[in-house]
Amino acid sequence: MHTKPSVLFVCLGNICRSPLAEAAFCKAAEEASLDVLVDSAGTAAYHVGKAPDPRSIREAAQHGIGISHYRGRQIAREDFDRFTHIFALDESNLSDILEIAPSGTSAHIGLLMDVIEGNSGIEVADPYYGGEAGFATTWEDVSQAAAALVRILQR
Ligand code: 4NP
Repeated sequence: MHTKPSVLFVCLGNICRSPLAEAAFCKAAEEASLDVLVDSAGTAAYHVGKAPDPRSIREAAQHGIGISHYRGRQIAREDFDRFTHIFALDESNLSDILEIAPSGTSAHIGLLMDVIEGNSGIEVADPYYGGEAGFATTWEDVSQAAAALVRILQR
């Protein structure tokens, strides 16, 4: 028997990239009628309880998705039991996740862009210190990964 897939997207602050990954994947899964639980978290606690960055809110809105109700949270040990898949947005996030992963966790833990064939080792760049254009690039990355991930989970 298959358990329902559950996917957690993890970046540093949980206010820029992982909320966009969550939004893009929710939309792609819904369009594909894929029944899946989706959430996002940060490795750091700086923005716990905060809404996404206004630039991420604007970017998601341009694609018809409201994310202003999302709230930042930090990844916790329980997440390794609750989620079947945990995806890091960059290598630094991945090493931080692996550091706190309980030994023997059955969650699949990997770099998000690796779900796209031929994309091994590619990171979703941190747009926090740049301009609006970086958020459009983030959206392109995470929406491509979301589409690939839907196809993987439909198999
Ligand atoms: P995120 O971006 O990891 O994509 O949410 C960042 C958000 C906040 C900070 C860094 C990156 N910060 O240093 O506060």
